[in-house]
Amino acid sequence: MTTATTGRTAPAGAVGTAHPRVEGRDKVTGAARYAGDIPFADLAHGRLVLSTVARGRIRAVETADVLGMPGVLAVLHHGNAPRVDTDYTGMLGVPPDPTAAVFQHDRIPHAGWPVALVVAETPEQAREAAEALVVTYERQPHDIAFRAGRPDAYPADGHMPAATEKGDLEAELAASAHVVDAEYTTPEEHHAMMEPHAATALWDGGRLEVVDSNQGTTWIADELVKMFSLEPSAVRVRSEHVGGGFGSKGLRAHQVAAVMAATALRRPVRVVLTRRQMFSLTGYRSPTTQRIRLGADADGRLRALEHRSLNQTSTVWEFVEPSSGPARVMYDADAHRTVNEVVRLDVPSPTWMRAPGEAPGSFALEAALDELAERCGVDPVELRLRNEPGRGPVSGLPFAGRNLAACFREGARRFGWAGRDPRPGVRREGRRLLGTGTAAASFPAGALPATAAVTAQADGTFTVRIAAADIGTGARTALTLVAADALRVAPDRVRVRIGDSDFGPAGLAGGSMGTRSWAWAVTAAAEELRDRLVPGAAVPPEGITVRSDTTAALGALAQQERHSFGAQFAEVAVDVTTGEVRVRRMLGIFAAGRIVNPLTARSQLVGGMTWGISMALHEEAVRDHASGGLYGADLAGYHIATHADVPAIEADWVDDPDPDDPVGIKGIGEIGVVGAAAAVANAVWHATGVRHRSLPIRPDRVLRAGGPGV
Ligand code: MOS
Repeated sequence: MTTATTGRTAPAGAVGTAHPRVEGRDKVTGAARYAGDIPFADLAHGRLVLSTVARGRIRAVETADVLGMPGVLAVLHHGNAPRVDTDYTGMLGVPPDPTAAVFQHDRIPHAGWPVALVVAETPEQAREAAEALVVTYERQPHDIAFRAGRPDAYPADGHMPAATEKGDLEAELAASAHVVDAEYTTPEEHHAMMEPHAATALWDGGRLEVVDSNQGTTWIADELVKMFSLEPSAVRVRSEHVGGGFGSKGLRAHQVAAVMAATALRRPVRVVLTRRQMFSLTGYRSPTTQRIRLGADADGRLRALEHRSLNQTSTVWEFVEPSSGPARVMYDADAHRTVNEVVRLDVPSPTWMRAPGEAPGSFALEAALDELAERCGVDPVELRLRNEPGRGPVSGLPFAGRNLAACFREGARRFGWAGRDPRPGVRREGRRLLGTGTAAASFPAGALPATAAVTAQADGTFTVRIAAADIGTGARTALTLVAADALRVAPDRVRVRIGDSDFGPAGLAGGSMGTRSWAWAVTAAAEELRDRLVPGAAVPPEGITVRSDTTAALGALAQQERHSFGAQFAEVAVDVTTGEVRVRRMLGIFAAGRIVNPLTARSQLVGGMTWGISMALHEEAVRDHASGGLYGADLAGYHIATHADVPAIEADWVDDPDPDDPVGIKGIGEIGVVGAAAAVANAVWHATGVRHRSLPIRPDRVLRAGGPGV
């Protein structure tokens, strides 16, 4: 037995230094296996069949012919599938999108609704049989017409109150020297992560095992326990590597269908979604229409602020895209009103997508601020600094740190903002018009309860076990650094195991809360373990394990406005002959807590900003009114920014440790996209003199709108 000591001469802290991903070599060599790649003996393959009508009822699923096809084992549908419980409250406090509760009735609420699962010996046989399966429908008329002013729109809460109001808005608007009253729209957008959803379900000695690609194994396990009325100890969900999530990798049709089929066939069944199926089964960001009214004094101080947002949701699930949320944090005014409304249409259910609410909401709000800056003749950076609130504009609570001004000062300096000519449409370079724009960003800094176990081993190494999810963020590496510092050892002595619900309850990778929540639990367990280890004493062969649970610590946090902040800057060139907008450079400066791993943190922020370029200029899923489905539901028809669309992007941060977090973390997964599209749109105005209030700013829109020189 060797001795394990924590080493009283602590190495320099690992947190704050750049580390490549601990699983990076496995990923680039193919050793890392994703959910759809993991081999199982006796594996059967399921393929979902989706409705071809947008509304109606299933008349018949004609299984007889298909059951005679080579390799076909079963066809599950509403006529033979087991009933599941859908009337429960999951870990997120809401029932899941009923699209996941497959085959429970004959009603078709939207195009691309799952109507059957064909299971066969090979994926190819399942695919051929699924394509051959005849399903007949009773068609009913559908309504997918999303637009402002629908009489059936209504205010809805989601995870925040639907509406907030203070003061007399009309009176303050009437008394304002400058008023902006504008409507902004954003289109339907899709997560488009690289790895498709995939799950394998099997029963092993009375236990249900699901090997999946998701954003939280204990979350998915909890949903399956409730849906299938199982004992919590009877379900294990694993998800070791995840090729992107962005909010979409929750409980979906594929896990539930795989569990049903594995139960019926008593053998492992895998269901992988195709890219096309993902466009109707895995959520999306709803389109929004947003109306903003701002009233200000001559010097730009806000007297009135109104932000109303409308999003669409399905007839089966009420999902709120809370786009008026940022206005509740960013700017105060004597009269202040925010409202989130939804309208239920015959469309798939939208869901959380990277910075839900903040991404579309910040586009409208920060574009409106830019319009106000123009009206007032105040520099856009200065306008924001003049409107810095001392307390939460709606909550009245103090801010636990608000370093927005520091972000703007540092960003303006590095971007070269000083001396910018405020006049639009005056800088020309050949056939291109040039412009610069800026916008503010914010995102809530939250944490979810988590448990962790840290074990000291006899060989001097340590193992951390926590049901964390690394959905590409670098969470596994960040937790390695955090554990190393708490143990006062070098990171190479720490192994972090994640993605297994058997490791105990832990919050999901969502809301930019993952790494912060898990780091808190890992730190608590590691520090206690360090206290328990006696320098020079032997560690027994079974090791010494300490467990932590952060539930009480989080419950004791004082109520405050807790957020990250950021300042976005963009420079664009607009081709007056083609209408094409190219982003030339972008800079984001963030105050987002202590940065654990600068290497992967920069990737997160640059990734978010790239999403902002994509949102501003490219992404738009278009529904066909005749079929109710999407045109081009694939990555050829749905364009996301590629290398050729993305210039040099710089992301950096100011010192901003969270004083109430044991590591100082706030979370960085989402703030990069917030305000990014507005910065680009504001730069397009500066280049062309035309306000583009509908995203994406496509070439045809630029040409049609014209402007000086376009
Ligand atoms: Mo995210 S939309 O919090 O996964």
